[in-house]
Amino acid sequence: MSKQLLEQLQTPALILDEARMDRNIERMRSQMRRLGVSFRPHVKTNKCIDVARRFMETPEGPITVSTLLEADYFAAHGVKDILYAVCIAPNKLDHVMALQDKGVRLSILLDSMETARLLVERAKLAQRSFDVLIEVDSDGHRSGVAPDADELVEIGRFLEENGIVVKGVLTHAGSSYDCASVEAIRAMAEQERAAVVHAAQRLRAAGLACPVVSVGSTPTALFAEQLEGVTEVRAGVFVFFDLVMAGLNVCRVDDIALSVLATVIGHQREKGWTILDAGWMAMSRDRGTAKQAVDQGYGIVCDLDGRPLDDFILVGANQEHGIMAHRSGKTDPALHLPVGTQVRILPNHACPTAAQYPSYKVLGADHEITATWPRFSGW
Ligand SMILES: Cc1ncc(COP(=O)(O)O)c(C=O)c1O
Repeated sequence: MSKQLLEQLQTPALILDEARMDRNIERMRSQMRRLGVSFRPHVKTNKCIDVARRFMETPEGPITVSTLLEADYFAAHGVKDILYAVCIAPNKLDHVMALQDKGVRLSILLDSMETARLLVERAKLAQRSFDVLIEVDSDGHRSGVAPDADELVEIGRFLEENGIVVKGVLTHAGSSYDCASVEAIRAMAEQERAAVVHAAQRLRAAGLACPVVSVGSTPTALFAEQLEGVTEVRAGVFVFFDLVMAGLNVCRVDDIALSVLATVIGHQREKGWTILDAGWMAMSRDRGTAKQAVDQGYGIVCDLDGRPLDDFILVGANQEHGIMAHRSGKTDPALHLPVGTQVRILPNHACPTAAQYPSYKVLGADHEITATWPRFSGW
């Protein structure tokens, strides 16, 4: 079969730079080795077994998922140790049991007595046991029970008295995405660690074993200085990185492994606009850099080698039109890119951009597309 080149792809297309991805994985791996913790990568960003195999500790996992469809897909590819890290609801328990029946060791999450009661009820009815983690709120950004709350111990005791194993505690310091400096991320990593270790100690003092202490987000995973008392780390977006991560100084712009290949389809010269065939359907609506020091619009525009083109960004996006312009608004005719020129756009947020596509076009050396890796969407 003849070689396929980047230039031959129909656009928009989702491009995965394999060398950058491998470098990002190695960076996370060496940080996990240094910290002495096990790694339970989150597969929600990639939703693709070919990507996940590059960073899973074994072909059977462990992994973290954000939907039960991810659990189904990875189980079908032989993964056995799966943590579903979104609080469970009763309407998903049949699905959980079907996964258990396939031999998956699936851990589920909850953060309230209300859910604990519903789970115990169903466990009795179905004569089942479930492996449960209790979600702890370490930063006030989302869900979880406070590490000091009476309810934490109440939930733990109630579950174990009713035959449900409390495997441990979990937290996700999503506030790390709002940190203003690397020092603030380091402090957030310590806050995340201290909160969940404290919660585990309280459960142990109440007589529970609580073997698992799980933390993680890409920023805190990469900048944690020490993780005493933590048993596992979860991270997902590190594999590709994106402009939000670069804006936090968690990575450099040239670490970003994911880009959207687009083509010039026209101009509004007096405005300094170049119109591309990649709008928000191709990039997603995510404007995660809008609240950062440098707003990257809908993405940074690069040449085919992935090098940023001067200071061009997508300043606007319609469904299938992207508006490329110089950040300063300058309208220099020398900046003109002819119709048909291809560019690559780095996304704000890798997860929603990747979610727009059925597959990754894997980019090797010399613009060669070495593989097409399928991915999926939905629940
Ligand atoms: C529970 C949980 N764990 C881990 C992660 C991974 O975080 P990141 O995408 O920053 O690596 C997420 C991401 O949303 C999450 O919700």
